[in-house]
Amino acid sequence: VARILNDVSSISGGQCEIAAFSDDPSRVSAEFGNFAVGLDQAVRDFPPSHWQAIGCSGDPVSRDRLYRRFRETGYAFATACHPNATVLTDNIGPGCVVFPGARLAVGVRLAEDVLVNFNATIGHYTALGAHTNVNPGVQLGGGICSGERVVFGIGSSVLPRKKVGDDAVISAGSAVWRDVPARCTMVGVPAVVRRGRPPTA
Ligand SMILES: CC(C)(COP(=O)(O)OP(=O)(O)OC[C@H]1O[C@@H](n2cnc3c(N)ncnc32)[C@H](O)[C@@H]1OP(=O)(O)O)[C@@H](O)C(=O)NCCC(=O)NCCS
Repeated sequence: VARILNDVSSISGGQCEIAAFSDDPSRVSAEFGNFAVGLDQAVRDFPPSHWQAIGCSGDPVSRDRLYRRFRETGYAFATACHPNATVLTDNIGPGCVVFPGARLAVGVRLAEDVLVNFNATIGHYTALGAHTNVNPGVQLGGGICSGERVVFGIGSSVLPRKKVGDDAVISAGSAVWRDVPARCTMVGVPAVVRRGRPPTA
């Protein structure tokens, strides 16, 4: 249902109890006191009237699917920003998670279910689409406009005001100096298109 980081200062409301959800029992680790296997059990044990959801899969396509599934089942999505993140915007959608050490400048906009990992920096007025993964140490310049389900790999960087299409993958360590078409994997410094990626359903 929701694994929210300990000590979150949640935009949608303070401290919270944590419950984990998975369809696969082998993926539910012992660290969780509360967990549900399958949506039926989640709804029964952690009902949408009392619990909010948050996505944690590293795969934006799975997160998109789970987000829709939980919304249709009646769950609202929480927004979790760690107190050790620097967040100079309140334009953060439901389901977003901002990790310790992340920095979000003035005017940044995150659509729903965006994950901003440790020590990532997002420059002023950059807008990221739903279900995007910003991995550790990513550096995004200001004024970037990025689509849905984009993966920014560890330590990658994107110059200011570039456009990034839906389902693009910016590979770890690459530096993007030009606009990125949808469904492309960008590799290297400066980054070039490696190959297409099948469109998501
Ligand atoms: C780009 C990426 C998606 C490619 O993954 P993949 O399709 O499994 O690719 P492979 O590992 O099979 O590598 C294929 C080729 O691309 C090259 N390549 C892969 N990643 C690369 C990178 N970041 N920079 C430069 N070249 C890269 C490999 O060397 C290999 O080259 P070769 O065919 O000449 O031997 C992946 O490497 C990546 O960067 N993912 C981001 C992961 C991430 O940040 N996760 C965060 C977890 S917290």
